[in-house]
Amino acid sequence: MLDLQKRVNELHDLLNQYSYEYYVQDNPSVPDSEYDKLLHELIDIEAQHPEYKTSDSPTVRVGGEAQSSFEKVNHDTPMLSLGNAFDEDDLRKFDQRVRDNIGEVEYMCELKIDGLAVSLKYENGRFVQGLTRGDGTTGEDITENLRTIYAIPLKIKAPLNFEVRGEAYMPRRSFINLNEEKVLNEEQPFANPRNAAAGSLRQLDSKLAAKRKLSVFLYSVNDFTDFDATTQSDALNELDKLGFKTNQERKRVSNIDGVIQYIKKWTDKRESLSYDIDGIVIKVNDLSQQEEMGYTQKSPRWAIAYKFPAEEVVSKLLNIELSIGRTGVVTPTAILEPVKVAGTTVSRASLHNEDLIHERDIRIGDSVVVKKAGDIIPEVVKSIPDRRPQNAEIYHMPTHCPRCGHELVRIEGEVALRCINPKCQAQLIEGLIHFVSRQAMNIDGLGTKIIQQLYENKLIKDVADIFYLKEEDLLPLDRMGQKKVKNLLTAIEKAKDNSLEHLLFGLGIRHLGVKASQVLAEKYEIMDHLLEVTEAELVAIHDIGDKLAQSVVIYLENDDIRALIQKLKDKNVNMNYKGIKKAEIEGHPDFSGKTIVLTGKLEKMTRNEATQWLELQGAKVTNSVTKSTDILIIGADAGSKLTKAEKLGTDIWTEEEFANKQNEFND
Ligand code: IVH
Repeated sequence: MLDLQKRVNELHDLLNQYSYEYYVQDNPSVPDSEYDKLLHELIDIEAQHPEYKTSDSPTVRVGGEAQSSFEKVNHDTPMLSLGNAFDEDDLRKFDQRVRDNIGEVEYMCELKIDGLAVSLKYENGRFVQGLTRGDGTTGEDITENLRTIYAIPLKIKAPLNFEVRGEAYMPRRSFINLNEEKVLNEEQPFANPRNAAAGSLRQLDSKLAAKRKLSVFLYSVNDFTDFDATTQSDALNELDKLGFKTNQERKRVSNIDGVIQYIKKWTDKRESLSYDIDGIVIKVNDLSQQEEMGYTQKSPRWAIAYKFPAEEVVSKLLNIELSIGRTGVVTPTAILEPVKVAGTTVSRASLHNEDLIHERDIRIGDSVVVKKAGDIIPEVVKSIPDRRPQNAEIYHMPTHCPRCGHELVRIEGEVALRCINPKCQAQLIEGLIHFVSRQAMNIDGLGTKIIQQLYENKLIKDVADIFYLKEEDLLPLDRMGQKKVKNLLTAIEKAKDNSLEHLLFGLGIRHLGVKASQVLAEKYEIMDHLLEVTEAELVAIHDIGDKLAQSVVIYLENDDIRALIQKLKDKNVNMNYKGIKKAEIEGHPDFSGKTIVLTGKLEKMTRNEATQWLELQGAKVTNSVTKSTDILIIGADAGSKLTKAEKLGTDIWTEEEFANKQNEFND
């Protein structure tokens, strides 16, 4: 091997080792100056001999070229969230559910790190891709920024292919330093370390992200096949061995009392940590028990997040303003004397409805207790009647819409007041905002302020007008430059290609959510087919209830809506479903409907390919062997899963047998 290549390899190994000691083990063996010296040696070599620069070189820690945007990437498996528990009672109920379901369990307690979820993909032991959670299904590719985090190994200690997930965060010290610098530069400081971490990872210039001193704790493995782990505890220990940073305060406990003790300890000690936590995550430790419990649409049934009680502060209720939503619901909003709660300044909070205002005896002029529900959404908890000024006023909702003057109605069975004027401006604007939102047409850069201006300047009256916008319409708007206009028009053009379900959801048909939009798009495929549909046909579809069926038909029969759809068609907005029709896939009879586990080293295909193929056949591919596993497919060096399958009498197939079945079907 060339001497220079040898030196480059040596430098990689040394620099990786030093980062690991410093950032993962918190135990450096050399002074910083030694690291810097070697890094500069490597930077110089790469500058003179670019052929030695690789994407996993430790020089990527300082950042690279700026990007113009982040690519959107689908997660291999959705990134879910956790159900919440707020007190001991919630925790005991969770425990009861778990034990009713799977019997006695051991729990793993972990700190709930207050940062943002990331997924890291390794191929052949090298870090190749890092994504944000995004909407759980699709995330953004922030690989370049993640590579600058020293605690993320660029290369791990075994040539594995898998994905790990964890929380990227900004340590408190880095946060304080960053904000001090921001104040010095007369910039707006970040509200809290989580916002600072999120802001840093969204930097398009990874050189800037590199300056932000982020870190990460990994807490789960997305594919256990190459792991000899039967518990969450094993999995975390394996991650440690591979060189990942996991949180060392985790603790295994044998019952819910142990969980409650752990929570008490950390409620008192959380301030002593060098990073923010917002709760404790409790997980069933045994992986096969986890699998037995399974998942809901949104979260695992085998885990829960205990949230620390929200900080409560006192403020003054200065006024109550009304806001009108997309469906005409009129919501009272508290205008508060600004106060700092859980890291941000709060001056507005939803009061939900008139009943709640009276239940909580809240009057204008009162001193009130404010907190952030789930540490995010500001809420007025109650008033403090002892401190009530004499002129405090009892609040009554108006009888007419504050925007259009139409009479407000209270629909039977609902607490909310509604403006039922379909031409109410406030509702139309909210409808436009909904149309461009992420799960609808996802038009990047078309935010609330721009929509409002466009509407007020009469440039858009309905959602179709968005596709008729021209450069000269946008340029005169506030804070709009040539480049922004170009990006916006590109985003609008791109949205025309969205699959039908996005358009359906975006239209804002009452009761039609994301999931039902998907169901309808998949079933009817073309908008024109949907225009013909009857209520009876819709009700016959699983997942579609009476109320929704009626609402869809009434909406689509309306002449104004038909004209709107034509107006969209005239601009070539796609009206077809573009996804895969699940019903059309005729799966391989040996796999369809089966629960299958893969283990050991596969030689003929990657694990991802095998999983994708099996899923296309209608199989469910899971991580650990349980009673419900139908088939275990084994590659070379299969370990504990094979032993377990043998014990349970599960069908065991070699990779060879699996490949034969595939070929037989493909021929
Ligand atoms: S386990 C299915 N463990 O909390 C999701 N999450 O909704 C499994 N978080 O955004 C998550 N610390 O990013 C897990 N030790 C921990 C965690 C943790 C922080 C975050 C996670 C997610 C949120 C839960």
